[in-house]
Amino acid sequence: MQKLTIGLFGFGVVGEGIFEVLNNTPSLNAVVKKVCIKDPHKSRNAPSTLFTTDREEILNDNEINLVVELIDDAEQAFYIVSAALQKGKAVVSANKKMIAENLDALLSLQKKHGVPFLYEAAVCGSIPVIRNLEEYYDNDMLKAVSGVVNGSTNFILTKVNEEGLSYSEALLEAQRLGFAESDPSLDVSGRDAVNKLTILLLHAFGTITSPDDILYRGIDTLHTADCKVAKEKDLRIKLVATAARLTDGRIAAFVLPQFIKEDNQLFRVSNEFNGVVVESRLADQQFIYGKGAGRYPTSSAVLSDIAALRYDYRYEYRKLKNASRPLLTNEFYLRIHVSFDDWSQVNKWDFESIDEFHSTAERNYLVGLIQFEKLRNASWYDDKNVSIILTADGIVEKQVLLKQSLKKLSLQLAGV
Ligand code: HSE
Repeated sequence: MQKLTIGLFGFGVVGEGIFEVLNNTPSLNAVVKKVCIKDPHKSRNAPSTLFTTDREEILNDNEINLVVELIDDAEQAFYIVSAALQKGKAVVSANKKMIAENLDALLSLQKKHGVPFLYEAAVCGSIPVIRNLEEYYDNDMLKAVSGVVNGSTNFILTKVNEEGLSYSEALLEAQRLGFAESDPSLDVSGRDAVNKLTILLLHAFGTITSPDDILYRGIDTLHTADCKVAKEKDLRIKLVATAARLTDGRIAAFVLPQFIKEDNQLFRVSNEFNGVVVESRLADQQFIYGKGAGRYPTSSAVLSDIAALRYDYRYEYRKLKNASRPLLTNEFYLRIHVSFDDWSQVNKWDFESIDEFHSTAERNYLVGLIQFEKLRNASWYDDKNVSIILTADGIVEKQVLLKQSLKKLSLQLAGV
């Protein structure tokens, strides 16, 4: 078992927790030699000689063989991680934004310098989803990976829809409990979830993409009328990250709020918990569940990575070597619920068909089938006053439509 001499970046809730555990668990054979912090004047529960504000002090220390990066700033984090890998140090990070936005560069650095880079804490907190996808699920056996991957938004949805808190009260509580990002717009806009989906795509299918190329919407555009519709239909709204292999082998990937039926495992994923449904050809559906945000769940995953490095565990990225790595596709349809105040906000001709339309004094909503690409480019897609929710089983393949020889339904038939 190799001894780990650690340079830690960040001494926030997770960093301090990791320091304490490593200090009190000699069997882990890992010591923190130096901690790099931003503010030297803050009082901390550790000897002052441990701290530095100079990142190079850690990066240039040849005795330090592991850098644990737990800072907020994605740009700084990328500099630190790149420099550490270049110097042959192993790295553990929880920074999903930094990882998702620099996948290609980080993969090249690992390859070039032959050092491990682990980041289990970056996706779904305490749930070992990356290692499972990496080690257990063979590429061509996997059909889909979908899940609740952001704890804060799930916490907010639970508190608002099941406990009657207002949206802003619930968001404040998520911040107070340490679930939310320091910029919580990353959570509520769906950006954090799309960063995690980018990382999942790599480990599930060997697909490299950028979060900027994946369609996402968060929970900040949901309307109270949408929540009423969910209740009336015995559904729950969850923010779901989806990567599903279509019949042609390509992947449909997006993050959208979705109506979830009671028989879906995600239905009971509440508060800051996360849950991932993995669908494979032989095993059918499997479900991984656990705490996705907060001090202890995040620390648990970081510690697990540190422990794994004692025996030189590394991601093999075997799926990247697969000749038939699937690409993302826009060639499919979604059945979506769209709610809005006025018809001037939505172009009904963007839809292939409209299956339902309801108009009340409070809000209008329709349920319709739309080409994914058309949704992406729709003039109303970015309108914050229009809410879009994927229906349960809302992905519809082109082939299925053709097989059923579904004719474009006239909007008049739907009574619009
Ligand atoms: N803000 C993130 C979340 C933290 O709520 O899921 C864990 O990645």
